Amino acid sequence: MTTPDDVIVIGGGAAGLMCAMTAGARGRRVRVLEHTNRCGKKILMSGGGRCNFTNTGTTPAQFLSANPHFCKSALARYTPAQFIALVERHGIAYHEKELGQLFCDASSRQIVQMLLDENAAAGVRIDTGCEVQGVERGDDGFRVSTSLGTLHAPSLVIATGGLSIPRMGATGFGFDIARQFGHGVVATRAGLVPLTLTGKPADVLADLSGVAMPVEAHANGMAFRNFLLITHRGVSGPAILQISNYWQPGDALHIDLLPDGDALDILRAQQAARPAAELRTVLADLLPKRFAQRLCETGFGSRPMRQYDAPALRDIATRLQRWPLVASGTEGYRTAEVTLGGVDTNGLSSSTMQSRLVPGLYFIGEVVDVTGWLGGYNFQWAWASGHAAGMAV
Ligand code: FDA
Repeated sequence: MTTPDDVIVIGGGAAGLMCAMTAGARGRRVRVLEHTNRCGKKILMSGGGRCNFTNTGTTPAQFLSANPHFCKSALARYTPAQFIALVERHGIAYHEKELGQLFCDASSRQIVQMLLDENAAAGVRIDTGCEVQGVERGDDGFRVSTSLGTLHAPSLVIATGGLSIPRMGATGFGFDIARQFGHGVVATRAGLVPLTLTGKPADVLADLSGVAMPVEAHANGMAFRNFLLITHRGVSGPAILQISNYWQPGDALHIDLLPDGDALDILRAQQAARPAAELRTVLADLLPKRFAQRLCETGFGSRPMRQYDAPALRDIATRLQRWPLVASGTEGYRTAEVTLGGVDTNGLSSSTMQSRLVPGLYFIGEVVDVTGWLGGYNFQWAWASGHAAGMAV
């Protein structure tokens, strides 16, 4: 079957829908192929159902890539303000939660509907439940074999995302296509992912699942201040998800348990104010009580504050500020929010996302080796890279 498409977009997620509506609005005939039964499943589940759709403070510094400069052009040409204007045009109410993170007041469904409405208005055809079996390139463009038959288009956009959450439709398809056409793929691994603990570190936190506290997590020269949440399998929470992007098994990881002050100053003040109070009582006022008790039971000990001399107090302060967390690994793609690594940006134009090797072939969104921090940055990359390709196809 021959179709008169100008552009085929494979993947109806955040980046694919943005690319398709942008190209459609320019008068291009666009078709989106999505293999699951509906578009934007990750948008639906994002931000706890309210979609943290952008971050007003987005800069290239919040993205990881083998080439940290690659994301600059697209991010500069499609900004959070432009996406916010789109959201406002659709009458979607939103609020800022913290640190520039914007969420829908009501539901992520509104963002998906907005994208679908924009695509419909731009005349984009969306085929859900469409399996893509293979792609070939000929003189007249790309031939895409699908469960709907063979489709043709001079431009092909790969927007199939990363490997995280396979049950939502994630596949390695985009990486396979990249390799087929001679592109490099930077090694992939789970990002923004809870860490697992085994052995003694797991025993220390056993039965504290659900306990949360503000911390600053440190690894490989990076630090993130936010909440840590103890889980049945290890640790999670925004501080841990953020640092997971910079940590790999075997790397040192430590946690500042008193991020809002100098631990030694705090302990000295407590010693002066409450000399008869036991360390466990003092720590229970500074940290979640059960966690403080566990620290004392499993290493810190506990004596009346007056019994600690200066070196002993300094030692406890150091252990509070550099609490070593020996993680065994991550929960992997099953629960990861993103995939680190991906299609090597050396093979792509940073202004259009077009392949430097194969004219007419584009890669956008999470499939590319650009990964953002937690906080709306990954969607902003999806919108920006999708827009860049949508203006070029
Ligand atoms: P995305 O994964 O959105 O879309 C890819 C699409 O391609 C999917 O629809 C998939 O089914 C389809 N596909 C895959 N293989 C295919 C094939 N072979 N043929 C056809 N179709 C195929 N980010 C953020 O900024 N704020 C947030 O609040 C959150 N929250 C969040 C929560 C959870 C639980 C997860 C897992 C992730 C987030 N994220 C996030 C990250 C964000 O969802 C992610 O970065 C973007 O969805 C990436 O957009 P893409 O369009 O690149 O991939």
